Amino acid sequence: MLNPFVYQNSELHCDGVALSAIAAQTGTPFYVYSRDAILERYREYHEAFGEHPHQVCFAVKANSNLAVLALLARAGAGFDLVSGGELYRVLAAGGDPARVVFSGVGKTDEEFEYGLRTGIHSFNCESPAELARLSAVATRLKLTARVALRVNPDVDASTHPYISTGLRENKFGIDIAEVEAVYAAGAKLPGLTLSGVSSHIGSQLLDAGPLEEALGKMLALIGRLRGAGLTIDHLDIGGGLGVPYQPHQTRPAVGEFIRRVCERTAGLGLTLMTEPGRSIVAEAGALVTRVLYRKRNGQKHFVIVDAAMNDLIRPSLYQAHHEIRPLRESSEGMTAGDVVGPVCESGDFFAKDRLLPPLDSGDLAALLTAGAYGFVLASNYNSRPRVPEILVEGSTWRMVRDRESYADLVRGETI
Ligand code: LLP
Repeated sequence: MLNPFVYQNSELHCDGVALSAIAAQTGTPFYVYSRDAILERYREYHEAFGEHPHQVCFAVKANSNLAVLALLARAGAGFDLVSGGELYRVLAAGGDPARVVFSGVGKTDEEFEYGLRTGIHSFNCESPAELARLSAVATRLKLTARVALRVNPDVDASTHPYISTGLRENKFGIDIAEVEAVYAAGAKLPGLTLSGVSSHIGSQLLDAGPLEEALGKMLALIGRLRGAGLTIDHLDIGGGLGVPYQPHQTRPAVGEFIRRVCERTAGLGLTLMTEPGRSIVAEAGALVTRVLYRKRNGQKHFVIVDAAMNDLIRPSLYQAHHEIRPLRESSEGMTAGDVVGPVCESGDFFAKDRLLPPLDSGDLAALLTAGAYGFVLASNYNSRPRVPEILVEGSTWRMVRDRESYADLVRGETI
């Protein structure tokens, strides 16, 4: 598996480009993504399905930069959306609406209408009330919405509680015990074609076990639905496979998992869909930052960098770990310290009590595994302009989102 971030001549590169060369031209901080790593991970999913009818729908929420979406679209990817804004991005990037699924627990009438008029593949619906709204909108437009019911299979994904979605106590999906009744009622509504079931039990699963358990429950459900005379032609197994954020973690075998899903569904006449986000883009991206100051408060040692929680919120929000590498490899010893940003919150940190390589004022460093849920969760908190995004294509690179200016910060505001 290609790791795009490696040292060559003691300089950290992304594929064929030294990150310090990008920093010299664009300044810091910036996000950087490897085209080749993204495509390789997408193809791992796509190729594992082999001849089995399938669609890999990249979860746009993980990284919605137009250039990233465009390269996935050109490779044949579909997309999993959770908002009208994401549909707008997919269309702007040249994505094929016929390969798009629209998920999410709170879609609006405007979003239903946008999806219907665009001709997306299907809506993953999460409640009887939502089915009724979608039916009303489709009928008004004289269009038909293809629907899969998002099932809550009541499986413990054993991941961080904020990103676990498949337990009965979560807001997501329809309780598996109630799906048959909801499906039968939905199949009678005008303007809808109920044709599938979907499930997504959580994110950052390093073990595919819970996904296999959910699959077993979904296949039994499909058997019951078909037994009741209902039509099911597609099964969406959701996303959720994780990535190693720390050296001791290992990435789940994506290809093996998909091949097992294909084996277990062989002969059932189901088109398989999947919605991976993180496992396609996380390892392909990094956030590059510059050390502003070092500082000591009592026994604590701080490295203050120019990126902050508004640029990458995962450590503050999920206690997430991101490896930190100096752009210039060093053989000097490590010292313990915190890496923090300039935002006025104690929660603004990237690492706490971490053994760190020598990082002095002016040095550059990369926060790794930041290609998923990085830039997309960035904000302008503390009136900090959002940072640029760079795409590396082999040995060349280009800016695929400009650094925001102060004027961008106040755009649309009036006194
Ligand atoms: N499908 C649905 C319905 C989802 O809710 C999600 C993620 C995905 C697919 C993609 O899951 P993935 O393959 O990326 O695990 N911000 C958090 C992650 C939130 C995930 C939300 N749902 C983080 O930074 O860890």
